[in-house]
Amino acid sequence: MTRTPDSLPPALLDDLTLLLQTHRFGRTAEFHAALDSTNRRVLEWGRIGAPDGALVVADHQTAGRGRFGRQWVDEPGQNLLFSVLIRANGPHEGLGLIGLAAAVAVAETLAPLTSPLRPTLKWPNDVLLAGRKTCGILPEALVTAGAAEIALGIGLNVNQGEFPGEVAGRATSLMLATGRPVERAPLLAEMLAQLEEWTDRALSDGRSKVVAAFTERMAVGTEISVSASGRIVSGTVHGIADDGALELRVGDEIRRYHAGEATSRAKRSTEPPGP
Ligand code: BTN
Repeated sequence: MTRTPDSLPPALLDDLTLLLQTHRFGRTAEFHAALDSTNRRVLEWGRIGAPDGALVVADHQTAGRGRFGRQWVDEPGQNLLFSVLIRANGPHEGLGLIGLAAAVAVAETLAPLTSPLRPTLKWPNDVLLAGRKTCGILPEALVTAGAAEIALGIGLNVNQGEFPGEVAGRATSLMLATGRPVERAPLLAEMLAQLEEWTDRALSDGRSKVVAAFTERMAVGTEISVSASGRIVSGTVHGIADDGALELRVGDEIRRYHAGEATSRAKRSTEPPGP
């Protein structure tokens, strides 16, 4: 594992080298005590030659990027905030499944720690515990005719004890959900192994496995509203298409959404979408 001169190796990551069981993910890494955004940094690093699987970890982000231009806010030193650079042939038909594959990987990592609580997934890539968001995932891709560079950004609430006002009712951490603090280094090592395995499936012949694993953890049959391209449509979750699109039953029709935000209709009347 390499460390750049300007990066700090916080204590939480001292063991990562020993614990890592991946082939590529995290084998080259940068650690920052504070950084604007690990997604921004890993894309910048990618432009100057960072290898496939390069990892950027921060103990705190000052401008963490969330979906729809929102800011991802963290309590310093408590969570896992990182981005992995994935290099693929571009355009690639598995690219739309990377976020879903990552959500499955996170859920698979958390499941043994949270039992009997079962991690569930909300399309496109939120990981929930007891209905509250525990992990946000942001894949950002630079795609040209021959190559794709994807920053796969993961923000997992690990030991955060409270959340600011607006988010408080919708977010949780592993510690709050299970009642126990969780050591971050082994969790990161296991998550990187799962992420490598599931994103490899998305980019090879394992796409149907990704879709099946995601569908298995999502609330098929529940009533949701989808906000996409400035319109809100209500319907029932039908499933996930081969390319990662959400299938929504609206009356007799199945509509497909490739991007957007899903909100449970039970929640919508009382809470804003997100976090
Ligand atoms: C979401 O809005 O649900 C996605 C949040 C993604 C946050 C993570 S934290 C690490 C990585 N770096 C960023 O700037 N964002 C992602």
